[in-house]
Amino acid sequence: MTLRLGDTVPNFTQASTEGEINFYDWAGDSWVVLFSHPADFTPVCTTELGMVAKLKGEFEQRGVKTIALSVDDVDSHNGWVKDIEETQKTSLNYPILADPDKKVSDLYDMIHPNANNNLTVRSVFVIDPQKKLRLTITYPASTGRNFDEILRVIDSLQLTDNHQVATPVNWKDGDDCVIVPSIKDPAELKEKFPKGYEEVKPYLRMTPQPNK
Ligand code: BEZ
Repeated sequence: MTLRLGDTVPNFTQASTEGEINFYDWAGDSWVVLFSHPADFTPVCTTELGMVAKLKGEFEQRGVKTIALSVDDVDSHNGWVKDIEETQKTSLNYPILADPDKKVSDLYDMIHPNANNNLTVRSVFVIDPQKKLRLTITYPASTGRNFDEILRVIDSLQLTDNHQVATPVNWKDGDDCVIVPSIKDPAELKEKFPKGYEEVKPYLRMTPQPNK
């Protein structure tokens, strides 16, 4: 199944290192980062899972739950978790889905046969509380993800959901934003952006981040 931005993501029930998970029930009203790994006991994945555990506080501050997936079974995951905890000096504080039947991998199109027939690529899905897909990024097996970038995009999504701004190149939380082009009325601009704005071009107006 090809998932596109704005689609409602499919629900599933699958075993995990924290017991059976019904995805919608588990997600509740939170944002979710669902991310897949090629296989257990692989070096890059080991570092990624450790980093996500260390970033738990950052995800929680943003109302985000994280959940990993690898096509191996729960027994294998449980053995791997011990290695992750030992080598990455952290404890795994979120579930890893088991997917030996590839049910979830197929539902979310995480296997790209021309890259590898059996293993999932490094997919990332950011899902909002309405279960809408808001971001997908696909990395090859040989490249570990940058989870700071994923946090950065979540900051942008949560900001732009609540304010009529967009975020420019390389934006990070606290930087100036751009005003959406649809607002043209000077009175509305003054009311919505009381901190003021700079009109670089009529279509390029910069304003301090509204919620800071
Ligand atoms: C890894 O996670 O280290 C990895 C997995 C598959 C291919 C290459 C690296």
